Amino acid sequence: MCGIVGYLGPRSATGVLLDELSRLEYRGYDSAGLAVLDRGRLRVVKTVGKVRALAALVERDPLDVHLGIGHTRWATHGRPSTPNAHPHVSTAGDLAVVHNGIIENHAELRARLTAGGAVFVSETDTEVIAHLLAAKLAGPAAGDVGRALLLAAAELRGAFAVAVVAEAAPDCLYVVRQQSPLVIGLGEGETFIASDIPAVLPYTRSVIVLEDGDVACVRAGSVMLSNLAGESVERPARHIDWDIHAAEKGGYEHFMLKEIEEIPAAVAQTLRGRIDPAGQVVAAELGLSDERLRAVRRLSIVACGTSYYAAMVGKAVIEKLARLPVEVDLASEFRYRSPILSDDQMVIAVSQSGETADTLAALREAKRRGVLTLGVVNVIGSSLSREADANWPTWAGPEICVASTKAYVTQLVALYLLALHLARLNGALDDAGVAEVTTALSTVPALLEQILAEREQIADMGRRYAHWEHFFYLGRGLDAASSLECALKLKEISYKRAEAYAAGELKHGPLALMTPEVLVFGLATQRELVDKTLSNLQEVAARGARVIGVVRAGDNVVTGQVDEVIRVPDADDLLMPFLTVVPAYLFTYYLSAALGREIDQPRNLAKSVTVE
Ligand code: AGP
Repeated sequence: MCGIVGYLGPRSATGVLLDELSRLEYRGYDSAGLAVLDRGRLRVVKTVGKVRALAALVERDPLDVHLGIGHTRWATHGRPSTPNAHPHVSTAGDLAVVHNGIIENHAELRARLTAGGAVFVSETDTEVIAHLLAAKLAGPAAGDVGRALLLAAAELRGAFAVAVVAEAAPDCLYVVRQQSPLVIGLGEGETFIASDIPAVLPYTRSVIVLEDGDVACVRAGSVMLSNLAGESVERPARHIDWDIHAAEKGGYEHFMLKEIEEIPAAVAQTLRGRIDPAGQVVAAELGLSDERLRAVRRLSIVACGTSYYAAMVGKAVIEKLARLPVEVDLASEFRYRSPILSDDQMVIAVSQSGETADTLAALREAKRRGVLTLGVVNVIGSSLSREADANWPTWAGPEICVASTKAYVTQLVALYLLALHLARLNGALDDAGVAEVTTALSTVPALLEQILAEREQIADMGRRYAHWEHFFYLGRGLDAASSLECALKLKEISYKRAEAYAAGELKHGPLALMTPEVLVFGLATQRELVDKTLSNLQEVAARGARVIGVVRAGDNVVTGQVDEVIRVPDADDLLMPFLTVVPAYLFTYYLSAALGREIDQPRNLAKSVTVE
């Protein structure tokens, strides 16, 4: 997720662009840049680092310009570097583009454009857009930037919000929106472009929210809209009455709720480009040959906190699908237990931040022992992603709330896809078996949207139980693994006592804790285990605990046997870890909000734990 901006009007374009970018840094902040027309000539300034690093460069060489575009990056393809920073320019250097999204067919376009004489200077998918536009301008579009954009957009696959500035169009900018957000702010004799509303609010509250397929020619104070076929379309301007601080949270009171609501999009983004039309996993970006991966006969996963709990789910799924043994270690313990490692092993390090000291240390221990390492990391360019032998990133976008939510769910996506790829390589699954699971995975974003649509029921539940002090999450199989993350979230945001246990384990001790003051969530979604889970829930109910079942829609085993139920959509057992965790996140959020907890910055915690 990146932030793109644009401006045309009487103000200093560099000043406006920098201000707009600073309001979008929550969308990405590893590098930044801007492109302006200075007396008809394209000028580009870009750098690694945050927007303030870009501002320092601009201040050194002030420009009196009134038209331009800008970008703050969240790296997906290509590590953070000045060449990889946006804007990207044509070989002739007479047009520049900024982009938010992922171009799935960038490799084939790059090959074709290179053969046509384009000279690529970055590792990014975005750069293909600049060269594709130049090819259209030199060919069928005959110098018409708007037409070139329509022709280029027709060849792009994936998600893209693009803004274009070109010497061939000295008094307008062009934008196109396809699956990545883009808004246009209308001022008096000036126009603003941005990925999100916060960037334009200081200047105007009259905003056009573009829809998929919208293309716009933007001039100072006016906009002409069309669809991808070039036919005119109308989009009403809306009056936005958010206050500016709330707007950075997308109108939400906390980043946590905003990021929970982003989970479906984050899952879709992490799946994007990794399943081919035949339902097979596309894993070229791993940079590991099939032969090298076939030699892997054992796996270890090292992680901390929420990432460790994603690893627990990953273990169950990799063993189930790929039939490879998986050990999961707390990264802080891994190197102190003198792990038995072998050259047929791969150590996977899972980390949202990619900077967690314990996980980095575990990765370095594995590398010191000569074992292949793989990073499953959300922050491209982080230490862990640079030190791992290979990477299989999550694309959740920046996660601002200290508590991880959307990143956790995208870690599951990455581990499920890895399991399928390994299963296909070692023959544990055939093409049909892989396609069956990838087809199911592709339904997860829509299933999650169904859960989020019912969030008021869970909000009410969170408020009702806000003053309880003791909580358990129980489950069996995949539900047991999911319970771990559910309990951690409640602990770290609400500061309540919350434990997670395999339901069958209660009678071996924790049952002694069951009293009428305890609220137990029983995750009971695994078809062949639901009866046994119900028995365990009845054991705790017999001791007076209050029980909320988390069941699939249509359940008739647990429903009616416990105090309350939360229903998640009926889906394959394998998908349940994606679904059951979202009601737990919502429950934690609303209970904590009812208590007035800090939520985005819980006491004692940090977003990236860079100390051991
Ligand atoms: C998650 O909500 C917590 N903030 C914490 O457990 C976190 O998952 C852990 O510190 C690991 O962080 P990482 O994923 O960035 O390595």
